[in-house]
Amino acid sequence: MPIVFDQAQQRFHLFNQRISYVMRVYEKQYLLHEYFGSRINDFTASQPFPQVARSSFSPNPADLNETGFSLNTALQEYPGVDTGDYRDTAFAITYPDGTSATALKYQGYEIKAGKSQLSGLPATYVTTEQQATSLVIHLTDQIRQVQVDLKYTIFEDLPVITRSVEFKNLGTQTITLDKALSMTLDFPENRYQALTLPGEWASERQMQYTSLQRGCFSFDSKRGASSVEYHPFLGLLPKTTTENHGEAYGVHFIYSGNFRASAEVDAFEQTRVMMGINPYNFRWQLAAQATFQTPEVVLAHADDGLNDLSNSFHQLYREHLVPAQFKDQERPVLVNNWETTAFNFDEPKLLELADQAKKIGVELFVLDDGWFGQRDDDHSSLGDWQTDVRKLPNGIAHLAKEIHQRGLQFGLWFEPEMISPRSRLFEQHPDWYLHVADYPASLGRNQYVLDFSRAEIREAIFAQLTKILDEVPIDFIKWDMNRNISEVGSIALPPEQQGEVSHRYILGLYDLVAKLTNRYPKILFENCSGGAGRFDAGMSYYMPQSWTSDDTDAVERMKIQYGTSLMFSPIMMDAQISDVPNQQVGRLTPFKTRLDVAQSANFGVMLDLQEQTPENIQLLTERIAWYKEHRQLLQFGRFYRLLSPFKGDYAAWEFVAPSQDEAVLFFFQILNHASKPMKSVKIVGLKPEQLYQVGDQQLTGDYLAKFGLYLNMALESDFLSKVVEIKAVK
Ligand code: GLA
Repeated sequence: MPIVFDQAQQRFHLFNQRISYVMRVYEKQYLLHEYFGSRINDFTASQPFPQVARSSFSPNPADLNETGFSLNTALQEYPGVDTGDYRDTAFAITYPDGTSATALKYQGYEIKAGKSQLSGLPATYVTTEQQATSLVIHLTDQIRQVQVDLKYTIFEDLPVITRSVEFKNLGTQTITLDKALSMTLDFPENRYQALTLPGEWASERQMQYTSLQRGCFSFDSKRGASSVEYHPFLGLLPKTTTENHGEAYGVHFIYSGNFRASAEVDAFEQTRVMMGINPYNFRWQLAAQATFQTPEVVLAHADDGLNDLSNSFHQLYREHLVPAQFKDQERPVLVNNWETTAFNFDEPKLLELADQAKKIGVELFVLDDGWFGQRDDDHSSLGDWQTDVRKLPNGIAHLAKEIHQRGLQFGLWFEPEMISPRSRLFEQHPDWYLHVADYPASLGRNQYVLDFSRAEIREAIFAQLTKILDEVPIDFIKWDMNRNISEVGSIALPPEQQGEVSHRYILGLYDLVAKLTNRYPKILFENCSGGAGRFDAGMSYYMPQSWTSDDTDAVERMKIQYGTSLMFSPIMMDAQISDVPNQQVGRLTPFKTRLDVAQSANFGVMLDLQEQTPENIQLLTERIAWYKEHRQLLQFGRFYRLLSPFKGDYAAWEFVAPSQDEAVLFFFQILNHASKPMKSVKIVGLKPEQLYQVGDQQLTGDYLAKFGLYLNMALESDFLSKVVEIKAVK
């Protein structure tokens, strides 16, 4: 049993081959945290972390005054409020008397095989009970009549624990939940630096390391969506950890709305890590006997560097997060018309692109924005999901048929959460968007956000979408979301519930996408938000792949894809080769380099195929065939980052087959330099004793890992790349 409760020591130990997670019921039923990290075989010692006051300014709870114990210095599992712990709190409740003091005490626990799903929220899942074991610890404050259930799952084969929290109001009056984070993790020392992924539109998930010092390091989203500016991921690692060596922790939130993550170093150099729904603009009315379930957080631990950590996330998300029917399904090579035509297309133009795409080996044709309402630019028609017959006089069903007849799958773009002020929907329902009554509402890309906290609005959109999806055979949907929320209000809720709107919006979104993905399980959904503004684990539960960035420049993409791969495997990251000068940064990069960057992830084409030279068309055709031949490896192989584009002029990564008999290495030179030093790439993940064919040489796995390959000398200009195939000699 991978979760045990030691009755004598009052200690919980969650463990598998790789990790241990330990907590203990202390005197007077305070639940303390003891350890999370590499597996400790026998956690029976009772060497206490300093669970006593270290100064007279660390108060002692009334029931433990004589012992010197203070909540301010103890490592806690889920700290209370206003009861003498001056670090950041995990939750906050305002009771009917206007005060907040709450101390949670241990009441009992349940252990069971498998894992229960969280109602209405995305979360990791198991397909058999053997894959995980779950624990619920019941905490209560008897005086306040509040129960807090801490939920844990440990996976059998992964160094991963998931956590979430459920609040229950046991009293008879409504209480207000002002803050409800999903986890706290207390470390006894300040040993780690923070690894975060800040960014912006078209420059998402740039890797940043921050040394932690006394005080609170935090980052968040108040945008109503997870990840335009910061991603809900927090890594913790000693300075010495590299891609392939050293310890690392990763905390990742399975949620798509406002979040807050923090790492606070206290006066005693203890470190408190937290993640959850952002308390900003959050106030939840918890009626008598009602419950509130927080979203789930994934905690992962690695002994062998960041690649090891990423591999755990990749495996977890592939096996236990994305829709099961897509887990092992190869993804088609697509063509998307957006950068080629934007809003300016008609049926002949699209069919011409489809014909050209078919010739080079593309498998899926995706029609992007502009096919509905009267949308000639981004000023109108969101909310009117009917075909624009000016552009497509034969209708979308006819276009789908034509595409299918060419042997291609057909995909379509939607932005269902939005409403344009210039739309029929807005004429009919001028108050369906999120706004504050009698207060000016900001526009973003000339549009408003529909109030998805309201079921009737979601149903109206659902009806529009199902009308098309029932009539037209659609294989793929690109689900976009191109602005963030502001002036957050719902005219359907009373004043005391306005603080619920941001979270209710996300619950509404999940409700709608769950209904659609259940009704059309074969449709492959691509999650998009102006690129990757909501590329998170929450959306990945419904949509197995995401548009990685609106920036399609090969050089910028190296960093974006490198940062994204910390949590998401390449198959989850869509990457499309586009034209130059690049539309986002104006850069000219060679065709082959653009191909190599795009084929490092879930590959597609966003080129004007008519404008390509015959040489490029030939190369593209060959490389699409090559990608298909290597698709198992590139989409399902183990991914290793080898050289970081954040650290110099090179980037490299590698895909290794599960058998370790085959690998493909991608190497990129960003800027060239005269008299440059040699640069070797160490190729990890192979069998040390095995002989591999590499070009015209035969080299052992051991040699490749320790000596590596020198690849940069032959590259004599900027922005060049190499692909190296490595195959076991049989
Ligand atoms: C967003 C997406 C793009 C494209 C446009 C269409 O910006 O990220 O890929 O679909 O919308 O308006």
